[in-house]
Amino acid sequence: MAKKSLPLSEVYRLIEPGPVVLVSTMSGKKANIMTMSWHMMVDFEPPIIACVMSNRDYSFDALKKTKECVINIPTVELAKKVVACGNTSGKDIDKFKKFGLTPSAAACIRAPLIDECYANLECKVIDTKLATKYNIFILEVVRAWIDRSQQHPRTIHHQGNGRFVVDGETIKLPSKMK
Ligand SMILES: Cc1cc2nc3c(=O)[nH]c(=O)nc-3n(C[C@H](O)[C@H](O)[C@H](O)COP(=O)(O)O)c2cc1C
Repeated sequence: MAKKSLPLSEVYRLIEPGPVVLVSTMSGKKANIMTMSWHMMVDFEPPIIACVMSNRDYSFDALKKTKECVINIPTVELAKKVVACGNTSGKDIDKFKKFGLTPSAAACIRAPLIDECYANLECKVIDTKLATKYNIFILEVVRAWIDRSQQHPRTIHHQGNGRFVVDGETIKLPSKMK
């Protein structure tokens, strides 16, 4: 087997699950958006999600303070804006205005939904025990929205270094996992 050593700093590129999401927060009157791909499901119902948010991000303080966010799921049509939200900070700009994204009111929390995304998950932070050591927040989804008119929403999946895979072919197998 002609495999070569892979630098440990690139391991995440193999495991990264995607889809890349946009996390919106509302701190005081300031709404903000950040791009995120380090997240995973923890439980089915209520849905629990773990995510890693760097403490260098403006969103980190907003999430720690308000304990609320929306995980918005974009499709490939929004890819350039998704990357732009990940390359800029809410410290410096209003990303909703700058990137032409539309905030709309959530049902259960103050953080806004991003209208252009095909699904939106309203989340509350339920555990911050790992936030100091690993920047990990445990979120419970308290309300979920989906645009069912989009039959094949093509999400984007991060491979690192500016590369993304666009969701494509679907195959069906007799899996016991619902
Ligand atoms: C494709 C992509 C995925 C990203 N995933 C994460 C992530 O999972 N966690 C994280 O802390 N930052 C992630 N980032 C970086 C943040 O989005 C970036 O630091 C952003 O500027 C933070 O915005 P803020 O300062 O307004 O909070 C990602 C960026 C990109 C482009």
